[in-house]
Amino acid sequence: MAAGGDTMAQVHTGIDSSNKTLLKSEALYKYVLDTSVLPHEPECMRELRLVTDKHEWGFMQSSPDEAQLLRMLIKLTGARNTLEVGVFTGYSLLATALALPEDGRVIAVDVDREYYEIGRPFIEKAGVAHKVDFREGPALDHLDALLADERNLGAFDFAFVDADKPNYVRYHEQLLRLVRVGGTIVYDNTLWAGTVALPPDTPLSDLDRRFSAAIRDLNARLSADERVEVCQLAIADGVTICRRLI
Ligand SMILES: C[S@@+](CC[C@H](N)C(=O)[O-])C[C@H]1O[C@@H](n2cnc3c(N)ncnc32)[C@H](O)[C@@H]1O
Repeated sequence: MAAGGDTMAQVHTGIDSSNKTLLKSEALYKYVLDTSVLPHEPECMRELRLVTDKHEWGFMQSSPDEAQLLRMLIKLTGARNTLEVGVFTGYSLLATALALPEDGRVIAVDVDREYYEIGRPFIEKAGVAHKVDFREGPALDHLDALLADERNLGAFDFAFVDADKPNYVRYHEQLLRLVRVGGTIVYDNTLWAGTVALPPDTPLSDLDRRFSAAIRDLNARLSADERVEVCQLAIADGVTICRRLI
């Protein structure tokens, strides 16, 4: 459990870095960060991460090792046209924008523009604002609006989902039409602090019980979904990579 001994406490509200990894050793996580991640974190991302860490909801921010994974995936797959669902202050969005080619773009959706405004100056200072198309509002509506234009069907190479967990299964159906065959959909928090594997009677907060159940449902559906090939990683809070097959 990421939150330590008190299972009634919500599992993601801790301020220490154990909130950011499923690794059982803090020392090992620090080793990974210090050796392979933080020395390569762009300065603009570091600055945004440190500012966001001080925000009352800072624990929602993607971890540096996860952001590094996103940058690597975008570069490896040569993605140009991408989507992000769940922006917060924009740490994963900045990672995405930095990894995209000069003519790449990311449509980024969040219900709350106020958070995004915290990160916007960092995106501008990094010289990648021209790649970012931020849209405020519920992601289901924005994805539906994209689906209404048939030019968007299969037009995206990559999508990253890190928003309201109970809607992931709906985002999956929408994204399978927006992301091209061979394209990539990445879901965050797919192990929900390890709660997905706890006995059903384990005491959890209402939110954790609900989100953990939603994630278990998502994982079962993804595993049985013949339209995608999946890869579950135990990085950060659990990351699932899907490659669209048909
Ligand atoms: C975990 S945070 C995203 C963290 C972000 N990826 C980062 O690197 O900092 C989740 C975000 O999803 C947004 N969100 C929640 N429900 C949403 C919805 N229905 N549609 C769009 N965004 C939503 C929240 O406002 C919040 O900013």
